[in-house]
Amino acid sequence: MSNTNPIGLFDSGIGGTSIWKEIHQLLPYENTIYLADSKNAPYGKRSKEEIIDLCYKNVDFLLEQNCKMIVVACNTATTNAIKELRAKYDVPFIGIEPAIKPAANQSETQTIGILATKGTLNSDLFNKHVESYSNIRVLEQVGYGLVELIEGGKIDTEEMRNLLKIYLRPMVAENIDYLVLGCSHYPYLIPEIKKIIPPHVKIIDSGEAVARQTKAILEKNNLLNNSKKVSEGLFYVNSDSQVLKNILGFETNVFEKDF
Ligand code: DGL
Repeated sequence: MSNTNPIGLFDSGIGGTSIWKEIHQLLPYENTIYLADSKNAPYGKRSKEEIIDLCYKNVDFLLEQNCKMIVVACNTATTNAIKELRAKYDVPFIGIEPAIKPAANQSETQTIGILATKGTLNSDLFNKHVESYSNIRVLEQVGYGLVELIEGGKIDTEEMRNLLKIYLRPMVAENIDYLVLGCSHYPYLIPEIKKIIPPHVKIIDSGEAVARQTKAILEKNNLLNNSKKVSEGLFYVNSDSQVLKNILGFETNVFEKDF
């Protein structure tokens, strides 16, 4: 495996680009291939078996492009399928899970909120993790409909604000001081979320931690790209590419492809 081979990332859609941006900022010389399985979004409503099968399909595609490592840029896919992926393939995998630990460790009200998909909140991996913080109240809320609106390019809309109010106000009333965003689509909602929650409630997502972990695992496996040329990234999406282009916010290599 050559160091110049790309890092592969996938998500059920465009949300994992929030993770891609963190990785690209920390590791600008790494070649990357991002796969947005928008056609099959949202994963959060699917069964564990379906999610695992979709993950296999995505990883097979990325490995055909000679990826040296895979970042599962989706909490729902990670919490339901990371064990199966690691068992089936030889390459290193990085997963993304809701950042409960930093929120629980820093909470002064001993009450934190988590917004995530049904698939993540129902997963064994997530629930085992939550159980280890028995001294903290973890208020869970499924973000019904949020991924669909983001995939539809409807972030800055009344519909979005109304849903967010319904999901977030009860948590604020219960005195949370941290809000964990447990879905890689949700960092794109931060400007809207900040209009609803008071400023003392801190928002945490996992993007930076995943980027640091990606770097550490590349180093450990001697896979860091030593090039000094900033890479642009290659993006594949299996539905209309315009929403992906808009969310990336810059002109780059985005291709529509059926996979
Ligand atoms: N972006 C995903 C996550 O991090 C999944 C959203 C979905 O497809 O339901 O959970």
